[in-house]
Amino acid sequence: MEKHFAVIGDPIQQSLSPWMHNAGYKALGVKAEYHRFRVKPNQLAEAVGGLCALGFSGWNVTIPYKEPIVSLLDTLTPEARRAGAVNTVKIHEGQRIGHNTDGAGFVRSVEAEINGFQGKKAVLLGAGGAAKGIALALAEQGMSLHIINRTPEKAEQLVQVIQRWGGTATSGEFAPGKWLEDVDLLVQTTSRGLLNESFPFSINGISNRALVVDIIVNQRETDILREAKLRGCRTLNGLGMLLYQGALAWEFWLGGQAPVEEMRQALKSQLFQRMFDKG
Ligand code: ATR
Repeated sequence: MEKHFAVIGDPIQQSLSPWMHNAGYKALGVKAEYHRFRVKPNQLAEAVGGLCALGFSGWNVTIPYKEPIVSLLDTLTPEARRAGAVNTVKIHEGQRIGHNTDGAGFVRSVEAEINGFQGKKAVLLGAGGAAKGIALALAEQGMSLHIINRTPEKAEQLVQVIQRWGGTATSGEFAPGKWLEDVDLLVQTTSRGLLNESFPFSINGISNRALVVDIIVNQRETDILREAKLRGCRTLNGLGMLLYQGALAWEFWLGGQAPVEEMRQALKSQLFQRMFDKG
């Protein structure tokens, strides 16, 4: 029987997950189809009930539902519990299991560039659902974290979660600061830039040893990546994280090994197509 998967969020038209997963199914001859659905605010519970009723085997969760979905699930994996956020749901024997592959996906996507995490400094811009998964995974790798967010209370809450799990973290003002001088890894996790808006402050003074990652995928180069490059930093966009969180979600749902190279090619060609369409 054909299996069905999906991604839910709002907005959703930017999501490339259907191309990535469907190319993977095709490559391995898996009988499955991956859809995407926009879920409006206040209709998350109905949407989740609907996916279950329709026999979906699992789905991904994106902005802004990674945290709100937690209360609608039956159990969480250790990764999801630790992050307090879910990006992957699996239906197993009628149970809704929440998992988080963002953190491990992020770690995989930067490890070739970082050359060892232990004792290095990461600064996170943002403290939402995506930031949580990434922060906990980086802390587990032994990085010390500094978190800054538009709403400072949320950054502080995340710091406390990291400390509770035995990690090292501080929070600060959502502004340039001393952190720029000794950052090894700067991660932009806010939704600012999703619609090509400029970043609210400059990173003038950033250490040129820093790797700067913006987890946004749908812009070829966000404002902050452009500036980072100008200031001599290495940069990565969110394609690698998207790929590896997707591959890990695939493996959680279907077992075996996801066809990462075919999935990467599908992402690249869909991105290229969209840029071409935009002119
Ligand atoms: P996600 O799952 O992608 O992390 P989220 O949980 O809704 O989505 O979190 C969005 C993040 O982007 C938050 O850190 C949010 O900051 P607040 O906690 O202050 O809301 C941040 N964000 C959204 N719009 C922003 C903007 N215009 N400027 C700065 N930060 C913004």
